[in-house]
Amino acid sequence: MAENSDTLALVTGASTGIGFELARCFADDGHGLIVVAEEEEGPLLEAATMLRQAGAPRVETVVVDLSRPEGPDELHAAVQRIGVLPEFLVNNAGIGVYGDFARETRWEDELRLIQLNVVAVVRLTKLFVPAMVERGSGRILITSSVAAIAPSPLQSVYSASKAFEYAFAEGIANELSDTGVTVTALMPDATETEFFIRAGMEDSKLGQASKADPADIARAGYDAMMKGKDHVIAPFTAKLKTVLTAVLPERMVAGMARAD
Ligand SMILES: NC(=O)c1ccc[n+]([C@@H]2O[C@H](COP(=O)([O-])OP(=O)(O)OC[C@H]3O[C@@H](n4cnc5c(N)ncnc54)[C@H](OP(=O)(O)O)[C@@H]3O)[C@@H](O)[C@H]2O)c1
Repeated sequence: MAENSDTLALVTGASTGIGFELARCFADDGHGLIVVAEEEEGPLLEAATMLRQAGAPRVETVVVDLSRPEGPDELHAAVQRIGVLPEFLVNNAGIGVYGDFARETRWEDELRLIQLNVVAVVRLTKLFVPAMVERGSGRILITSSVAAIAPSPLQSVYSASKAFEYAFAEGIANELSDTGVTVTALMPDATETEFFIRAGMEDSKLGQASKADPADIARAGYDAMMKGKDHVIAPFTAKLKTVLTAVLPERMVAGMARAD
């Protein structure tokens, strides 16, 4: 583990859920961390304490709202002040919006989702990847979703944002293939986190369904990133869904995936 103590992982959305468990994987392996969330009080500071206890030799916290257009540049500036180039960039922070697009959801919420799930992911990658390429090493993990590969009624903007992330990750993974920098898309199925409450989905069919353990999802993503795989679907059982999605008519898949 001592050989990892000089490397830092930058993890967005690390205060709770899948992001916290991803950060814990780095801590377990003795990597330092820069953990990022929107709210300073409570979960982020608690997460930092737990990550130090888990073995991270150094844990820095950065509070930034990545749904603001200037958020990613502010995070990049904060990391420059810390004075290290992260070896790992984990673009994980994300939110959902649930409801009928024409009659229920609000544009303000959808714009915030697009800023966080799409714009911030591209901008942060744009800011950090050139230095990784110059150094000849780096690993990027992007938390997409199985929703990326199936139309998801009542989560239309969310699933489109996850499809964007998946396509972006696959595209740049190929572009970077001879640079020493790898890109991995983590594609979780429904996972037991605060995501569903935040998206107002507690009472939906999906909100009520059984869900994966975020620690298992994070471990699958972490291991895939360390192996340089281009994507991983987790849990393993969700792979069956993706096979069915590929062979069934889209209208049928959309009906089955309807989240109400
Ligand atoms: N849960 C699932 O079923 C599931 C399935 C597939 C994919 N995913 C994806 O997994 C990722 C993590 O979600 P999760 O399920 O772990 O949800 P979560 O428990 O709600 O965690 C979301 C994290 O993102 C941070 N965050 C939210 N808005 C932010 C903002 N504007 N700026 C900076 N940070 C912000 C939160 O920090 P604060 O608490 O400070 O806001 C929190 O740390 C997301 O990209 C999500 O789309 C989740």
